Amino acid sequence: MLTQEENVTLTQTGPGTPMGALFRRFWLPVMLASELPGPDCDPKRLRVLSEDLIAFKDSSGRVGVVDAYCPHRGAPLFFGRNEEDGLRCVYHGWKFDVEGACVDLPNAPEGETFKDKVTITAYPAVEKGGAIWVYMGPKDRVPPLPGYRFMDLPDAHRYTWKMHIECNYFQSLEGDLDASHANFLHSTLGDQANNPRIRVRRATQAAIADRMPRYYQVEDTDYGVMNVTTRSGGEGKLRVGMGHWVMPSTTTSGSDRMVSQNNIRVPIDDGNCMFWRIRYNPNEPLTDKELWEAKHGGFLYPPLISGTFTGIDNVHNDYNIDRVMQRNYNYTGIKSFSTQDTALIEDQRGPIMDRTVERLVSSDESIIRVRRHILKAARDLMEGRELEEPFRPQGWAVRNVQFDVDENASVDEAVVSRFATAGRA
Ligand code: FES
Ligand SMILES: [Fe+2]
Repeated sequence: MLTQEENVTLTQTGPGTPMGALFRRFWLPVMLASELPGPDCDPKRLRVLSEDLIAFKDSSGRVGVVDAYCPHRGAPLFFGRNEEDGLRCVYHGWKFDVEGACVDLPNAPEGETFKDKVTITAYPAVEKGGAIWVYMGPKDRVPPLPGYRFMDLPDAHRYTWKMHIECNYFQSLEGDLDASHANFLHSTLGDQANNPRIRVRRATQAAIADRMPRYYQVEDTDYGVMNVTTRSGGEGKLRVGMGHWVMPSTTTSGSDRMVSQNNIRVPIDDGNCMFWRIRYNPNEPLTDKELWEAKHGGFLYPPLISGTFTGIDNVHNDYNIDRVMQRNYNYTGIKSFSTQDTALIEDQRGPIMDRTVERLVSSDESIIRVRRHILKAARDLMEGRELEEPFRPQGWAVRNVQFDVDENASVDEAVVSRFATAGRA
């Protein structure tokens, strides 16, 4: 449970807010690389941390992310002409480069000298790992790009995807930290043999039956929080899961064998966020089979309405819940694995959850720890203590690991050795 003040701090990320300042210390993915397909492409609208922006690629291929409105008389730059290394407002012809300098001011005699005094807000932007990354913080604190393991991989090793979620970013994040929901929300029912749509997940029946994961360890780290859970693995085994939250809003959930996954939430505004899912194999290209399973078998990528980043099954149609499916095949009656999450998080007493009235239990320990960690960081920042995390790009290299140990073995030793060899490579 949080106080009203803590909940407001946690959920507001607009300009001038504590959490807004925290997010603005990090590089954030804001567009798919494919949304800006080449030099002088069409400018695109985007909204990040409650700021309306326009993105474009100039004639030299540099990415520009600038205020959505012209500093002259506030006209929308979305209608601008992207020409000769700059974006020109079509109202009176003022033109800006990717760094925000006014390079032409043709509608007034004093324009030639006056333009040197005019700038538009512009944020550093880089294309990498299948996404456009933007840094919206102080110019004297620009950190290195995050060291996610997928960043430098060839395109074929990685699948970068995003979906609009209609709730506060932290609601979405908490879903990944909540270890006990998976074996309820995402579980399937008995009749699998005749089930045309749903595949049995790889978890053993014993693990599915054990609906009470135990937090073995939840620990603050130099990148965020690591949690270790144990469940029964059946046949004398314990299933150990290591998961991570990386500042400010990334988790490593859902990794499987050699294919790993990062989930990143970027606030659009306080009631909406963009959910990024990036799956990657550091060693070899993703196979057609892996991608097919991710899209169709495991339902990790819900189908989107064409030309948008909104799911076909969404809050406005009750996620097309199928009550026959719910009675017979799966727990929710909702098809996609990810949509099952979305359905439960987009309306937790609304898009911005009131955390003053919740009743948490021990299986919520990871959520509690992450809230405490990020609220402290936001408070530190407000009091002038800068964050170290943005300057530790290696912190993002963690990944989820699941493995079985004998029931009597030392979980500590297994975790330490896994962290060294697989958790952070
Ligand atoms: S409003 Fe853009 S040039 Fe006048
Ligand atoms: Fe989930």
